[in-house]
Amino acid sequence: MEKSKIIDKLNDCLRHEWTGVAQYAQAGFVVAGLWREVYSVMFFDSAKESFGHATLVGEKIVALGGVPTVERNPVKQTDDLQELLNHAMDFESKAVKLYNEALLLAEGDRALEVFLENILEEEQDGVDKLTRILRDPRAVAASSTASKVG
Ligand SMILES: [Fe+2]
Repeated sequence: MEKSKIIDKLNDCLRHEWTGVAQYAQAGFVVAGLWREVYSVMFFDSAKESFGHATLVGEKIVALGGVPTVERNPVKQTDDLQELLNHAMDFESKAVKLYNEALLLAEGDRALEVFLENILEEEQDGVDKLTRILRDPRAVAASSTASKVG
């Protein structure tokens, strides 16, 4: 495992997580309409998850002797719910890709592999959740209403 390469890749992950904090929080602010109460909470939860991952990754970078980045990537902005969800899917898919790349570089350091696998699992959960939502938004809306009534 080359330390400088893994630190660079972890900083790519951190840059992506900082992007998630801003992008998801803004999505939570601007989402409007009938489903605002549902999706605003979901977007803010995702912003908090990104901050949680940023914290873990930043601490790990320092432990490895690196400097955590303060940069983020451009934020995709829209107030259209479908586009917000598509952007969320793009974001989670890229996170899965980045943590998989980091895992390849961590090969041989079992503790670092487990650390990255735990985050990767949550990123994949995000992809799976959005896959279910984007498959048929009306079905999700109906089940959400049913669970409140039941
Ligand atoms: Fe994340």
